[in-house]
Amino acid sequence: MCNKVLRIEQTSLEKLFNALSHGLRLMKYGSSLKEKVAVVTGAGAGIGKEISLKLAEEGCRVVLCSRNKEKLKDIAELIGDDVLVVPTDIRVEKQVRSMICKTVEQFGGIDILVNNAGIIRYGEIEEFSTDDYKAVMQTNVDGTFFATREALPYIRKSKGNIVFIGSFDSNHPRSFNPVYAASKWWIKGFAHSIEAIFGKEGVGVTLVNPSEVRTEIPDEEGVAYSEKYREGEVLEPQEVAEAVIFALKRSGSSTISQLDIYRRDKLGDFF
Ligand SMILES: NC(=O)c1ccc[n+]([C@@H]2O[C@H](COP(=O)([O-])OP(=O)(O)OC[C@H]3O[C@@H](n4cnc5c(N)ncnc54)[C@H](OP(=O)(O)O)[C@@H]3O)[C@@H](O)[C@H]2O)c1
Repeated sequence: MCNKVLRIEQTSLEKLFNALSHGLRLMKYGSSLKEKVAVVTGAGAGIGKEISLKLAEEGCRVVLCSRNKEKLKDIAELIGDDVLVVPTDIRVEKQVRSMICKTVEQFGGIDILVNNAGIIRYGEIEEFSTDDYKAVMQTNVDGTFFATREALPYIRKSKGNIVFIGSFDSNHPRSFNPVYAASKWWIKGFAHSIEAIFGKEGVGVTLVNPSEVRTEIPDEEGVAYSEKYREGEVLEPQEVAEAVIFALKRSGSSTISQLDIYRRDKLGDFF
């Protein structure tokens, strides 16, 4: 009788122990973002806006940067507390440096940088204007470089995370869109190289590559993707934001190095 009770108690203790260690394992691989300081570029619309809202929901202190101050203020109002609006043109080195300084002055450091600001331009390569070429390269490439370079000392200190928003076009040649595609291949090369350099210090780097997302980004005719595509036809910005949060909540010794998030039939038609 006593042996049986003992056996039952042991079984219960084993169960409790197993449950506890399972819980600890989950905690280890699902870390909290509460009170992390997160800088989001291109936060005023589309994917950047949704990432900012989701980070705030997770308890982050969010720094909103893009050019249109009014749009940023509207998002800050939705968030409430612990949010900083810093209108920034990502192409301008001085503005990016000042945005990072304001962030550190306000919140004491940086845990997360989301390099999201980006634009698209279309055109046959022989007719592609120098202005369009510069606009894409200065925003997608220079801007990503400036923000990463300025934020890195703080992210290294916090052993934080850098997320790069690439594209389906980071992974494939694009015959109709070579300059945009090349800028996204640059982001892929830069992101993985930053991971190669700083991963060993504990910095987590993630490249997120979405296919079409219903945002303000325009098609060749200037129609916003949010109008061009019906709900359910392509990705919603919230889906990309969820992918970013998934990557950021990863802890332990691993990082989600690259996350390709495509509409289900994307590889079927390849456009
Ligand atoms: N939508 C898609 O289908 C799709 C697919 C794959 C990847 N992406 C990538 O996702 C990222 C976000 O795109 P989205 O679709 O969300 O575009 P979006 O709706 O047009 O939003 C772009 C955001 O970037 C900001 N921005 C543009 N130029 C800037 C600059 N010089 N300095 C600072 N901020 C700037 C814009 O604000 P201001 O104009 O006020 O500055 C806006 O907040 C981009 O890198 C894009 O390439 C999009």
